[in-house]
Amino acid sequence: MDLSRRHFIETGIGAGLVTSLGACVSAQSVPAASAKPGMPDWHLGYRSAPANGFDPAAMKLAFGKPPADLNGSLYRNGPAQMQYGDDYASHWFDGDGLIHRIAIEDGQAVHQARFAETKKRREEQAAGKFLAPGFGTLGDESFSVEGPDDVNAANTSVLVVNGELLALWEAGSAFAMDAETLQTKGPKTWRNDLKGMPFLAHPKVEPDGRVWNLAVGGEQVGIYRIGKAGQLEDFGMVNIGRAAYIHDWTMTDRHLVILVQPWINESMRPPVVAGFEWQPQHGLQMLIVDKDDFTQQRWAQAPARMFFHTGSGWEDSDGTIKFDVVLYKEPILGVGGGAAEIRGEWAGSAADENGMLTQVVIPPKGDARLIESGIVGEFPQVDPRIRGQKRRLTALTSAPAIDRPGTTAVTVHDWQTGISDSFDFEQSRMVEEFLFVPKTTGSTDAESWLIGTVLNLKAGVTEVCVFDAAHVSDGPVCIWQADYSWPLGFHGTWA
Ligand SMILES: [Fe+2]
Repeated sequence: MDLSRRHFIETGIGAGLVTSLGACVSAQSVPAASAKPGMPDWHLGYRSAPANGFDPAAMKLAFGKPPADLNGSLYRNGPAQMQYGDDYASHWFDGDGLIHRIAIEDGQAVHQARFAETKKRREEQAAGKFLAPGFGTLGDESFSVEGPDDVNAANTSVLVVNGELLALWEAGSAFAMDAETLQTKGPKTWRNDLKGMPFLAHPKVEPDGRVWNLAVGGEQVGIYRIGKAGQLEDFGMVNIGRAAYIHDWTMTDRHLVILVQPWINESMRPPVVAGFEWQPQHGLQMLIVDKDDFTQQRWAQAPARMFFHTGSGWEDSDGTIKFDVVLYKEPILGVGGGAAEIRGEWAGSAADENGMLTQVVIPPKGDARLIESGIVGEFPQVDPRIRGQKRRLTALTSAPAIDRPGTTAVTVHDWQTGISDSFDFEQSRMVEEFLFVPKTTGSTDAESWLIGTVLNLKAGVTEVCVFDAAHVSDGPVCIWQADYSWPLGFHGTWA
């Protein structure tokens, strides 16, 4: 096992950064003029958060009536250090992770946030400039890198296992955080011989609380199986044949499905993104792995597509696997990395740059079929009670804004009827990921609340919105509003 670990440390994305630092120069510099007044209002979403985050502050109820059974915490994560002086972050994926908690109890919502205190953040804060290499950042040669966690931004998602809050990145360890105060505890080690092993930002939690996740290092992929009490039950390895970009994956109740997209890393030099090549001749391949025996594998093939996020999968009685995913015709965002948006620039996007919510159908034998929903969007989410099982609904952000980045609507798509239900905030708000929160009555995915954050551009503040998953087009059930805004993030979880 130690050999495998060393493989990851030495050949993984983080280590690619280690071996090539000699060629590095300082972070991208941009003209100071773009930081001057006159920034578009949507640039609020890409502005740095205060260095100390946000102390707990009550949000005001701006609309509606909070559901009586909605009690818990919405945790979210996202890059929130976008600028030092006149230097802007070179890539959205490289900003330091700001971990939010919106605690909701008895109709009251309280927001707080803290940065994950990583080595990268500590040293860059002390220097007052970007130093670490990253996914889209070359880095400064003064920054020492001995392993992936030295460049860990802990900025992508969050997971709560047995009450422990983890801030997730994808090329290094999860970072343990205090679930109440959001203070950083440090990198999570699942087992001594797995110290520093990557832990993807898209773990999958079974309805009974067991967690599955991947460790990606080139063509080698590690598989974590974690019990609901937080103990590592198993760790195995599979080989996917090429160093594909793997940000997310999916599973059914019996199988893991690892999507090997034809966006291949041919060079591990920083910035990592520059080493990826689009090789559509390979198509989108899928490795299906038996959860009970990782050596039991089969491959399926689909046309070439790029993706970031899946919804979830299930298996029909004849072994047909179905899952949903937002598919792109070619690599997007990862390439440009939102660098222009961080500087307040927006050149627009072509229709074919948008992702389409798609169902992938893998028959027991033969090639996979792609069934497009017609919905352009991102951040697909499903009901956690039935993850891995047959279900009807997927929620996602949708309706790309016309004259700015981001989306304006929340949509729920019903795979059984083919009907979608949407609420469009139109140009006033930027919509982020919405999560299913099961109602305390009922058991179907329609019997859920949807909770998520939106950036209200007119008021210049961030809001937490709740919808009834069965009646999204009726509009929000309630909206809590902060007195301030915080930068757009990536993913969250409800606990
Ligand atoms: Fe993601």
